Amino acid sequence: MTISLKTVVVTGAASGLGHSVVLALGKQSVPVWCLDADAGGAEAVATQVRKVGGVAQALPVNISDPVALSSAFERIKNTADPIDGLVTCAGVQNTTRILDLTPEEWDQVMSINLRGTFLCVQHALRAMTQVGRGRIVTIGSDTAKRGGGRMGKAAYGASKGGVVTFTKSVARELAQLKRDIRVNCVCPGPMLTNMHGVMSPEVKEMVESSVPLGRFGTADEVAAGVLFLLSDEASYIYGETLSVDGGVVMD
Ligand SMILES: NC(=O)c1ccc[n+]([C@@H]2O[C@H](COP(=O)([O-])OP(=O)(O)OC[C@H]3O[C@@H](n4cnc5c(N)ncnc54)[C@H](O)[C@@H]3O)[C@@H](O)[C@H]2O)c1
Repeated sequence: MTISLKTVVVTGAASGLGHSVVLALGKQSVPVWCLDADAGGAEAVATQVRKVGGVAQALPVNISDPVALSSAFERIKNTADPIDGLVTCAGVQNTTRILDLTPEEWDQVMSINLRGTFLCVQHALRAMTQVGRGRIVTIGSDTAKRGGGRMGKAAYGASKGGVVTFTKSVARELAQLKRDIRVNCVCPGPMLTNMHGVMSPEVKEMVESSVPLGRFGTADEVAAGVLFLLSDEASYIYGETLSVDGGVVMD
């Protein structure tokens, strides 16, 4: 797999899927900016990449804060080659059932998962449209396609459905520019990451039994899908939503 990118920004780099994407890019010697609200975690993964000879820089930022995010992208612009890759892994889950869901919780989930994705994509595209080249992979969820099941995921599912539709809309709009910029989305299925906190054996079993492959996925398996979409080999894949979910969705 060939990934010919010079400056890739990964959000949610400190944990789970983003962490795996950063390490996988580091192994391919692709320079990465590790963005996360968790400053220590972002620094830790960047250090891990540098220890094995890769190029990585930590940049603590809350992606739901437009002012802080603008400064972060400005800093990258002033210190690195133009951004030509973006992977938006930062996200939060929320499992409050619909009858108890407050407008504040709804807004919090939307401001990180959906508005944060929009803002990061917009910042990255400002650089990519100037150089005429770029690869963007957003992160949706199986929930975007099938709804949130019994677990109170109305806000989360809506935010991820928004990410999928946002990604397709951006891809259609960008097509008119006729630049070498590809935009795609990966929809992971259930993975045992920090996002879920501690899961009881009963819930674990229930989730596993809903997956045709009969198990949780790993962040590395999702990262493999992300890296493929960033690679030159995916040159004709555009506006696509790739499920990496053990067969949960199958559409
Ligand atoms: N874990 C799953 O089962 C699963 C399934 C489908 C989709 N996803 C999606 O994959 C993505 C990664 O999830 P994960 O499982 O790796 O979760 P995770 O909790 O392990 O990692 C999420 C990271 O995002 C960071 N983050 C959260 N809010 C932020 C903010 N406002 N600004 C900057 N950083 C912020 C966190 O600090 C954390 O490092 C998320 O978008 C999630 O919705 C996860």
